[in-house]
Amino acid sequence: MKIRLDKYLADMGCGTRSQVKQEISKGRVTVNGTTVKRPEYKVDSASDQVCLAGEPVSYAKFEYYMLNKPAGVVSATKDPVEKTVLDLIDSRRADLFPAGRLDKDTEGLLLITNDGELAHRLLSPKKHVDKVYYACIEGRVTDEDIALFDAGLDIGDDKPTLPAVLEIIRSDEKSEILLTIKEGRFHQVKRMFHAVGKEVLYLKRLQMGSLRLDERLSPGEYRELTEEEVNAL
Ligand code: URA
Repeated sequence: MKIRLDKYLADMGCGTRSQVKQEISKGRVTVNGTTVKRPEYKVDSASDQVCLAGEPVSYAKFEYYMLNKPAGVVSATKDPVEKTVLDLIDSRRADLFPAGRLDKDTEGLLLITNDGELAHRLLSPKKHVDKVYYACIEGRVTDEDIALFDAGLDIGDDKPTLPAVLEIIRSDEKSEILLTIKEGRFHQVKRMFHAVGKEVLYLKRLQMGSLRLDERLSPGEYRELTEEEVNAL
């Protein structure tokens, strides 16, 4: 794709259109090693190598990051007080946002992207994309709970929850479970357990649609999605 040099740099988060024009006119931008001072110069985004102040700037319309969200940060783009998930991502792009929310104390898989259409497909309540959570629960989770989750629970909203698949890993005074839900209501997992008289002590998202949390990522770490992961979404 051929694209104007100033648009290329602005799209990649190197500054506003007028800021990058200034950089270009100052001679700080090269294309394939040659200084280019015309902002309207057309570059081939697939094959030309563009550098700003000696740093390569590669062109990708969209960025996709898998973050293992740690507890204690909020799933927002900006917050006047709290640290946000975007503070953890080292990218020049100003248009990144978290695709969906996890509570401040929830850990695990969060997709950070600037691809609004993809985020919409994943999050739309009509699409029923599976989300898989691991949780530690105060109290004994039972086969009766499995049946109640499967039947749909009244959690105080207009409609009961859609059938959810509850799997018990360990049932004891504290239990461990996996839960697959097809919705993303506010505090949904916590409210579902609350509806059966139990409390979530720890919550971590493991999967969203086809995207699985990379187990090599410690809380707070992230990586770019592979091409296969993006295509599968
Ligand atoms: N359900 C919750 O209760 N909290 C989350 O963060 C995600 C799902």
